[in-house]
Amino acid sequence: KRLILIGPPGSGKGTQSPIIKDEHCLCHLAAGDMLRAAVSAKTPLGIKAKEAMDKGELVSDDLVVGIIDEAMKKPSCKKGFILDGFPRTVAQAQKLDEMLERQGVKIDKVLDFAIDDAVLEERISGRWIHPASGRSYHTKFAPPRVPGVDDVTGEPLIQRKDDSAAVLKSRLESFHRQTQPVINYYSKKGIVATLHAEKPLTDVTDEVRKVLS
Ligand code: AP5
Ligand code: ZN
Repeated sequence: KRLILIGPPGSGKGTQSPIIKDEHCLCHLAAGDMLRAAVSAKTPLGIKAKEAMDKGELVSDDLVVGIIDEAMKKPSCKKGFILDGFPRTVAQAQKLDEMLERQGVKIDKVLDFAIDDAVLEERISGRWIHPASGRSYHTKFAPPRVPGVDDVTGEPLIQRKDDSAAVLKSRLESFHRQTQPVINYYSKKGIVATLHAEKPLTDVTDEVRKVLS
């Protein structure tokens, strides 16, 4: 399967991705995780991306399309993939269509994580992540077994720099202005499944399973 996950910050894309990945043996390509890795490694790309990310704005289409194009070449992505956080603009969606056309494949489903903005601040402010794997935890909704420590590796968890109330506001603004139109783009192709992303974590997982079965 070839899947796209679209939703505002904190809607649960990164939380559901590992579950879908394990159940369907897909590769998980998270644009934000790849960008954060580039920023912390201070690669030329990371240096260019950092300013926009810190402000909660989108990184330029060219940079992101380049990363995704490169990542999709991995042999493990040939059978199928989960795109988490890409495409986020209509221009990115058009570029993706061109890439897939060259490979002779198509997107099967777009999962639209629909949720009210008001719920997202609590989700974001309680989030702790394991940067190397991209795993997310939440102090209230999905606590790690030991506070501040990743369940799998035992490594420390951190909070994201862009997870402040002020930056969240600008991320939400970018989502509504630039990313919402991407959902319409795929609706016209008849491949969008809308999820009730405000429900508890396991309910959302059940909905995802139903859509993909
Ligand atoms: P990115 O990393 O993609 O951030 P985002 O879209 O803002 O999404 P989040 O990671 O914040 O949310 P999520 O949906 O993954 O939530 P999660 O599952 O962790 O992008 C970061 C930045 O990179 C962008 O701002 C931009 O600058 C740049 N960028 C990335 N892609 C780009 C692109 N294509 N083009 C240009 N720029 C790009 O859940 C959140 C919390 O809630 C967690 O703590 C979790 O445990 C908890 N939780 C999850 N589900 C539930 C539930 N059902 N109930 C209760 N709690 C839950
Ligand atoms: Zn995420």
